[in-house]
Amino acid sequence: MQVPFHKPYIAEEEIEQVVDSLKSGWVTMGPKTIEFENQFKNYIFGNSSIPQEKQFAIAVNSCTAALHLALKAIDLKQGDEVILPTNTFVATAEVVTYFKAIPVLCDIEESTHNMDVSKIEDLITEKTRVILPVHFGGQPCDMNEIMEIARNHHLYVIEDAAHALPAKYRGKTIGTIGDITCFSFYATKTLCTGEGGMITTTNEEFAKRMKINRLHGINRDAWDRYTLKGDWYYEVVDNGHKYNTTDINSALGLAQLKKIEWMWQRRLEIAKKYNDVFLKSRIKPVIVKNDRESAWHLYVVKVNNRDELIKKLKEDGIGTSVHFIPVHKHPYYKNAFGYDEKNFPVANSVFEKCVSLPIYPGMKSDEQDFVIERVLKYAR
Ligand SMILES: Cc1ncc(COP(=O)(O)O)c(C=O)c1O
Repeated sequence: MQVPFHKPYIAEEEIEQVVDSLKSGWVTMGPKTIEFENQFKNYIFGNSSIPQEKQFAIAVNSCTAALHLALKAIDLKQGDEVILPTNTFVATAEVVTYFKAIPVLCDIEESTHNMDVSKIEDLITEKTRVILPVHFGGQPCDMNEIMEIARNHHLYVIEDAAHALPAKYRGKTIGTIGDITCFSFYATKTLCTGEGGMITTTNEEFAKRMKINRLHGINRDAWDRYTLKGDWYYEVVDNGHKYNTTDINSALGLAQLKKIEWMWQRRLEIAKKYNDVFLKSRIKPVIVKNDRESAWHLYVVKVNNRDELIKKLKEDGIGTSVHFIPVHKHPYYKNAFGYDEKNFPVANSVFEKCVSLPIYPGMKSDEQDFVIERVLKYAR
């Protein structure tokens, strides 16, 4: 039996939507992207008390682009500091360097692999502008504590929610809490458009700036300048980027959004079955705290023979991955910012032991049984 690490859930609806976009003759950003933004906005803000006029969703071509636009919206400057966890994909730190600003890395918690909020205040200096939590594997960080620290120190909170669609913290949907939230629709994510991302915010000024800067800094909805009702004239009012998505990607997004709750339920079922077995064994899964709901983008366990386990599972046809090689260990970041290994004892020990197992909506019961059986057989 072959069980890949991930398979996106692409069905007839996705294919029909994409074909519809191709047949329409409008393939770049256009009506389907606007529809995707509207539906995504309603999905994220639907259960909140936030007034409609303060709800914004902006589609872009990646979460990396989303994070870049978010940091630009708050006017991050050279030398500013952004606090983020070391246990993340490099994109979270990389976007900070676009501004010649400094990624200040925070250690993580042993049980959740999320940023350890008790360590944030020690990292704050007069140069700190932003706290950038990453909801690891889909589990929300300790947002109450993060928001309180941020307000006390006049910092912005920009959330990296690349893994966290959909996820809830104390009843609030991720995407409605921080100043700006950034989602990813990359191939392996819980909603997949091939490549893509979305930004949510309740701040109109930030929304305006991000929308302008996703398309070269042009001062109005320039995507329709080639339609009959469009106008050829535009002005460039900011030094923007080419970060717009396309209607082909948004077509995929619309079809995926329709089944997001079902896909989430499937992930929950798979995670529960893994937990039921592994929590009684020597294998240590990531623990989700009682007051929040994970999107279960990843199912991560800790074992004492990580490399051997990955090798044996691969030989048996089971795909795995490691999330993440901590940012402070990457040569470029170590050299550029002089991170000291000693400051990240938990992330270092988690990194030695962690492995991500297959979890995706299309995973069959016998495939999961096979993974469980082999993990129990090989893990030490
Ligand atoms: C935590 C985290 N942040 C950001 C990103 C970047 O997302 P994208 O590939 O959509 O740019 C990823 C992608 O894997 C991620 O895992």
